[in-house]
Amino acid sequence: MKALVQRRYGTAVLGDLDVPVPGEGEVLLEVRSAGVDMGTWHLLSGKPYLVRVLGFGFRGPKSPVPGRDVAGVVKETGPGVTEFAPGDEVFGTCEGSFAEYAVAAVSRLACKPRNVSFAEAAAVPISGGTAVQGLRGVRPGQRVLVLGAGGGVGSYGVQIAKALGAHVTGVCSTAKVDLVRALGADEVVDYTVEDFTGTYDLVLDCGGNRKLSRTRRALTPRGTLVLVGAENGGALTGGFERALGAAVLNVFVAHRLVPLMSAERADVFDELRVLIEAGKVRPPLDREFPLSEGLAAIDYVHSRRSRGKVVVTI
Ligand SMILES: NC(=O)c1ccc[n+]([C@@H]2O[C@H](COP(=O)([O-])OP(=O)(O)OC[C@H]3O[C@@H](n4cnc5c(N)ncnc54)[C@H](OP(=O)(O)O)[C@@H]3O)[C@@H](O)[C@H]2O)c1
Repeated sequence: MKALVQRRYGTAVLGDLDVPVPGEGEVLLEVRSAGVDMGTWHLLSGKPYLVRVLGFGFRGPKSPVPGRDVAGVVKETGPGVTEFAPGDEVFGTCEGSFAEYAVAAVSRLACKPRNVSFAEAAAVPISGGTAVQGLRGVRPGQRVLVLGAGGGVGSYGVQIAKALGAHVTGVCSTAKVDLVRALGADEVVDYTVEDFTGTYDLVLDCGGNRKLSRTRRALTPRGTLVLVGAENGGALTGGFERALGAAVLNVFVAHRLVPLMSAERADVFDELRVLIEAGKVRPPLDREFPLSEGLAAIDYVHSRRSRGKVVVTI
């Protein structure tokens, strides 16, 4: 099969690999589309260096193929699989979706939403799943602030918070203001012009790496700060110490400070399927790249030019 092959950190080339064989609880997918997110860049580059000690490969990437988000058709089922049958259209995550075929655990797959394309479905799992988990507990009428609202996680964050009945303020740079407004944000703040003001019941922090003290000033007395991530945190830890600091501080303050480690799970993806089929969330697709331009797709996301989501179509 054709695949983007990464033998060492930093680069990948289009090559040929054997079609993988599904094991117990797994299926073989004919990949139609693969999602690209900042995590794809982290695992390709091996940066921040923390990812190498977190089990993704110390000297080189463990997975020979980049890409985790996937949408495709079940080709074959492994032993013990009862959830899916050949021909089923699914989306979720796997190891190595930048390829014609990939093996995925059924515990990380759900039925593809009927009303979107494979490309749109592949743009959902990690970013949408992170937003769903970060916004748990939001109630109608609450005020939610989304930092990085024009990015992958933030663009779902705006839509899901609106679906939960919140009043949503999105923070982004100038080029993404119209997108964030179109996603349904009640207010949009262009951080290159002015910084956000006001107080919020929940802040979903997906960009900017602001100091905890700055973001906490925007919380109501018992408000919640969900730390998703940011890209300007240094090559060694990528800003992980901010999440660690929040976890420690959380013990001593009335605010809830939550460093988020999102889970890739079938039930979360199914929750997203329901929201999408109900028309409450639309995958915000920016660009599709062919597999031969997989590296360019990753670079486009890393350059911060992408608005919403990017996918590689096989
Ligand atoms: N914790 C987890 O489980 C988890 C899961 C998924 C992703 N992540 C991490 O979360 C972060 C966001 O992921 P993503 O996929 O959404 O990345 P993304 O698509 O690059 O979006 C991040 C957004 O933040 C914006 N931004 C940058 N500086 C900002 C600032 N000062 N104020 C407001 N917005 C700012 C960026 O563009 P503009 O500057 O042009 O507005 C961009 O749109 C990444 O670091 C990713 O690795 C963590």
